[in-house]
Amino acid sequence: MKEIPLLRPYFNSEELEEVQKVLNSGWVSQGPKVQEFEGKIAEYLGIKYAIAVTNCTSALHLALLSIGVKTGDEVLVADFTFPATGHAVLYCGAKPIFVDIDSKTYNMDIDLIEEKITERTKAIIPVHTFGQPVQMDKIMEIAEEYNLKVIEDAACALGAKYKDMYAGTIGNLGCFSFHARKGITTGEGGMAVTDNKNLAEKIRNLSVFGMTSAWNREKSDKFIIPEFTEVGYNYKMSDIAAAIGVAQLKRLDKIIKRKQELARYWDEKLQEIEFIESPYVSKNVTHVYQSYIALVDKQINRNKLIELLMKKGVQTQIGTYASHIQPVYNSNQECPKSYQTFNMSLALPMYYTLTEGDIDMAAAHLKEALVELRWI
Ligand SMILES: Cc1ncc(COP(=O)(O)O)c(C=O)c1O
Repeated sequence: MKEIPLLRPYFNSEELEEVQKVLNSGWVSQGPKVQEFEGKIAEYLGIKYAIAVTNCTSALHLALLSIGVKTGDEVLVADFTFPATGHAVLYCGAKPIFVDIDSKTYNMDIDLIEEKITERTKAIIPVHTFGQPVQMDKIMEIAEEYNLKVIEDAACALGAKYKDMYAGTIGNLGCFSFHARKGITTGEGGMAVTDNKNLAEKIRNLSVFGMTSAWNREKSDKFIIPEFTEVGYNYKMSDIAAAIGVAQLKRLDKIIKRKQELARYWDEKLQEIEFIESPYVSKNVTHVYQSYIALVDKQINRNKLIELLMKKGVQTQIGTYASHIQPVYNSNQECPKSYQTFNMSLALPMYYTLTEGDIDMAAAHLKEALVELRWI
């Protein structure tokens, strides 16, 4: 039986060559390859500063610290997200206030933001869910009016655009993930980006224990004993991970283009399948399809459908999580649309090397599974 996975990262010999160079250099921790990767990401996005870190969660944590979020503060967070977004707020001792979503785009419902703002609110974290950018103009207007900072959770959205602006470059700060399920991967990895020099310096310092990095000291012709200026973290990306990132980034636009073609093909296929709705795309965005997330009709048990598809060799998943129901947050917020989407969303296979033939086969199994489920 042919198996179709949910995702598969796309590597070739370039990653091995880049990693080999780093291994040969003898400098494998954070060093020149990380600087190169940061420079290439900044150039790609057209932004001044990029700071590589261990993952997007640490990027979000440092982004929040850099704007001064602390105990007692509140941060508005899109509810339908991987809970890393809310966790980063908790790391700062602040409280995530969850905002419900628009069921069509799966993104934060902009009309619900203002009613959640209090005098304790410091920032908004919109999430560009599954690679589809949020309508950022309105969010930036609200932020300006209430004097709030905006941190874009662009974990899934490297290369996505809102109008002609890259996701992650519109707010005060943007955070990206290079986890295996993202557009490009370094295994685990993340990046914080900003045009603000002070925020960038603060994040860099905090990512390296609150001291000058070893590579900066190595490059200097003076002997420097560093000082620890604040309680920083060890959130450094290694040169080995950055080497993979440098090779991956060269292929980003090609990967996005192919995934967009595959998404159109899935859209067509789903038109023929009752009970499954293809994802909606807003007119003024470029969706990069980190994941292809359909909606399963309420009449169908989505979890049983996932199980049945697994038996048929097609790996699928839930979309993502409704944060407000996670016990860790002890939240009394209500986000009914996010909750409904958490129960109805279905991630279908989507990756660069997926073929139209694979989609035909997965769609045929999906059709069969839906028929079988009605008899269970
Ligand atoms: C929206 C969102 N934010 C943050 C994260 C955290 O990313 P990382 O795994 O790189 O910490 C994820 C990962 O799945 C995500 O989907």
